[in-house]
Amino acid sequence: MAKARSSFVCQNCGAATNRWQGRCDACGDWNTIVEESRSPPTASRLARGRAFDLEGLAGESRPAPRAVTGIDEFDRVTGGGFVPGSVVLLGGEPGIGKSTLLIQACANLALRGDRVIYISGEEAAAQVRLRAARLGLAHAPVELAAATQVEDILATCGAGRQAALVVIDSIQTMHTQTADSSPGTVTQVRASAQSLLRYAKLSGAIVILVGHVTKDGQVAGPRVVEHMVDAVLSFEGDGAHHFRILRASKNRFGATGEIGVFEMTGRGLAEVANPSALFLAGRDALAPGAAVLAGMEGQRPLLLEIQALVAPSSLGTPRRAVVGFDQSRLAMILAVLETRGGLKFAAHDVYLNVAGGLRADEPAADLAAAAALVSSLCGAPLPPEQVYFGEIGLSGAVRPITHTGLRLKEAGKLGFRSAALPQAQQTNNEDRSAGVALFPCPHVEALICEIARRSTRRPKETPNAPPVEPKPGRP
Ligand code: TYD
Ligand code: MG
Repeated sequence: MAKARSSFVCQNCGAATNRWQGRCDACGDWNTIVEESRSPPTASRLARGRAFDLEGLAGESRPAPRAVTGIDEFDRVTGGGFVPGSVVLLGGEPGIGKSTLLIQACANLALRGDRVIYISGEEAAAQVRLRAARLGLAHAPVELAAATQVEDILATCGAGRQAALVVIDSIQTMHTQTADSSPGTVTQVRASAQSLLRYAKLSGAIVILVGHVTKDGQVAGPRVVEHMVDAVLSFEGDGAHHFRILRASKNRFGATGEIGVFEMTGRGLAEVANPSALFLAGRDALAPGAAVLAGMEGQRPLLLEIQALVAPSSLGTPRRAVVGFDQSRLAMILAVLETRGGLKFAAHDVYLNVAGGLRADEPAADLAAAAALVSSLCGAPLPPEQVYFGEIGLSGAVRPITHTGLRLKEAGKLGFRSAALPQAQQTNNEDRSAGVALFPCPHVEALICEIARRSTRRPKETPNAPPVEPKPGRP
């Protein structure tokens, strides 16, 4: 009989080696390699397979109705509810509110008469019940258990009425007899997910797997699960803020890029129907260095405040720090403002922050970031009722971006009266009817001149500001 051998598997990326080593060759992580036993192929595994029927693309398939949780922000991210038979991975840092969100979704579905099973591998059933009571959901007929053995869980779910939704909280705590390594290892996580996946596809139940992420945002261990599941959702937020953002990074049944915004309250997660108003609340519109970006998150417009602080530096190499913005994008914008706009940042520390703990990743944020930087450098507050969007090219030209109409409409809805946007931007009559005046910026120079014109500092105090030129053409 063949001897059982072991292999050494990286717990981060799943790469296998024949001997233990301190650093994984595949992903470069240290101390992630763990010995896992590899069972030799048995006679039954080597048995010949059975032929199955193949089908055509035109075959009939009636899509079952999606399971709508009734939590609009959640349903938006899943693309209009969960698809029966699908497996969803929900990742997030510990304590962010994954269990809270899921128990709320479970309660809603159970109250509609669906069979909903919630398996907790981390908390005792009493703890989950206590949380449900605190959320005012104790009356919802959710079936609850604390278990970690996948075979037992599948037997339980298979008995009785067909389950519509099974929540596994979390996949890292599950173990299955089909793999003989210890719980929490990549092999166990992968084998458990595979069993649950098979159950979902055969029974038509929706399975939600909870996965914890590490500090740098990777779904630890379950990264190897990401390619198996139908959708990967991540629940993000900032410890200092009460709001949380749900995003889809993969979705086989809907668009990615959609976000759902929630606020953590004393009674669980509340939906935020108008996130722009939330993110702009409490802003100091009259302070220099604050620009409002009319951004997009998926198909939804979102207004964000980008704050810049440009302060004289005593350091040989001035500091460049960003929060919620890309460091290399800031370096590029500064280089363009210096080379094409004639400004000098070399003797200044530069800090750029997206207020509210959000991230501004789209290229359209360039113009808002540039406006905030110039405003802070010149000490000139930006018009409080103006929004900014546009991509800045290396030549200093401001380039068109997408979804102008949606951005302008959202700005108009929140009381903004003008928008600085790329000159080449196509705008139609509908865009103009949003009640927002357009200030087309062909080049960063036009933006700099406009801001310098508003500067209250005497020219002596703003050696960096360019000479004030006639105002660039306003439409
Ligand atoms: P939890 O859902 O347990 O997080 P996860 O499952 O992602 O680890 O959420 C825990 C946090 O949420 C905890 O720090 C307390 C907070 N919380 C509230 O602020 N209000 C509430 O109503 C609930 C249930 C939790
Ligand atoms: Mg939890």
